Amino acid sequence: MAANWNHFYQKSAEQRLALVAQWAHLTPSQLNDLQQTNAPIFDHLIENYLADYALPEGVVTHLTVNGTAYLVPMVIEEPSVIAAASNGSKLLSAGQGISATIKERLLGGEVVMKNVSNAALSALVARQQVTLIQLANASHPSILRHGGGAKRLTVRKLDDQFTAVDLLVDPGEAMGANLINTMLEAVAGWFRDRQYDVIMAILTNNADHSLVRVQGTVSFDRLGATLEAGRNVADRIADASTVAKIDPHRAVTNNKGIMNGVDAVVLAMGNDWRAVESAVHAFAASTGQYRGLSHWRVTQTGLTGDMTIPLPVGYVGGAAGVFQMVAVNHAIAHVTDVSELMKVIAAVGLAQNLAALKALVTDGIQKGHMSLQLKSLAMANGTKPAELGFIVGELRKLAQPDAEDVKQLLVQLRKQDFHE
Ligand code: HMG
Repeated sequence: MAANWNHFYQKSAEQRLALVAQWAHLTPSQLNDLQQTNAPIFDHLIENYLADYALPEGVVTHLTVNGTAYLVPMVIEEPSVIAAASNGSKLLSAGQGISATIKERLLGGEVVMKNVSNAALSALVARQQVTLIQLANASHPSILRHGGGAKRLTVRKLDDQFTAVDLLVDPGEAMGANLINTMLEAVAGWFRDRQYDVIMAILTNNADHSLVRVQGTVSFDRLGATLEAGRNVADRIADASTVAKIDPHRAVTNNKGIMNGVDAVVLAMGNDWRAVESAVHAFAASTGQYRGLSHWRVTQTGLTGDMTIPLPVGYVGGAAGVFQMVAVNHAIAHVTDVSELMKVIAAVGLAQNLAALKALVTDGIQKGHMSLQLKSLAMANGTKPAELGFIVGELRKLAQPDAEDVKQLLVQLRKQDFHE
């Protein structure tokens, strides 16, 4: 018989857990894995809350941004990412460190309308600019106290049928999603009152008004045992960066590597990584072809990296205000406002990319990555923490260790333990 899940959300967290356990025939051990330690908070944060899901947090070391040294928390499940970010940061810190700049930080949104005269709408929006800005601010007045507010409205023709009125807002220290949606709905109401056929009003995750640029140089001697070898590595990294510009297949992987670092910090800082992901990938495709986000070139002094990415993040509000860990992570990183946060996140992305490219053009990714992946391989195939030392040691001796090797080694180890 099909289960009846109607009004499941109205049950208590404990009742939900019991129902799911019964439906899925969970074993006592599986049930034990579904802990509800954070129920008092999480049950109010999402719907149909069932259990806590823990991810590991580590810190990236050696990061220097605009002359300040940072220790940055990263939340990630993938081995070798934090090692690589630290490695890239160390390479870049040996020089001047990473420089980071933000041109502007505005969040955008649109009120989409149908069958309007573009010229008439443009004229109306120009004439009523001040009124509409006041209206938007009045719908969320606290933003003015926080130094932000609605900035401007423009009209954009989408096709013969649809037109958008774009609103740009300074969200202060917040990411600003709720803020701008409230403002957009107020603006949409104003147009509806004037008989405009409004289809919808919503923020855009295309954060091209929240760009952060990071740059850094590694001297040749840090890239190889000799100056010449280092120069050779620099040339190859520059080539790899060119390939990511011309080949979308490579660009996707290059950018995935950058997002390893970006997402991990975004998550540690309680931000919406889906918003960041969609903004970054849209930006990577903004020329009409999906391209690598980073640019590495050989200069007189070494290898110089340059990357601009959109970062729609906030320092306050949203999950940042709910998770105590976010406040702790702000303290660990010594990051005190949203601009600094954006700079640090982008810098981690650049460092991450450098380490990956260096590995790719020298030893290949598997050497460094797989040596750190072995623990994960062992645990995924039943190795207990106390057995890790032996199993990983044995796996290191093998050319291409896999799940079968772990299983055989465990049998061997457990047989030995039994006989001792
Ligand atoms: P190495 O040269 O053997 O490292 O690199 P090292 O022993 O010379 O150490 C240099 C620094 O790296 C250390 O300095 C640490 O900061 C850090 P120290 O603090 O010792 O003075 N480091 C570590 N940090 C934490 N734990 C460790 C550790 N080891 C070094 N165990 C390393 C070894 C793995 C770092 C290097 O091979 C590397 O950077 N590889 C790249 C790995 C990578 O990119 N992983 C991401 C996952 S793969 C992927 O998804 C993305 C990709 O496809 C993207 C793309 O294609 O562009 C690659």
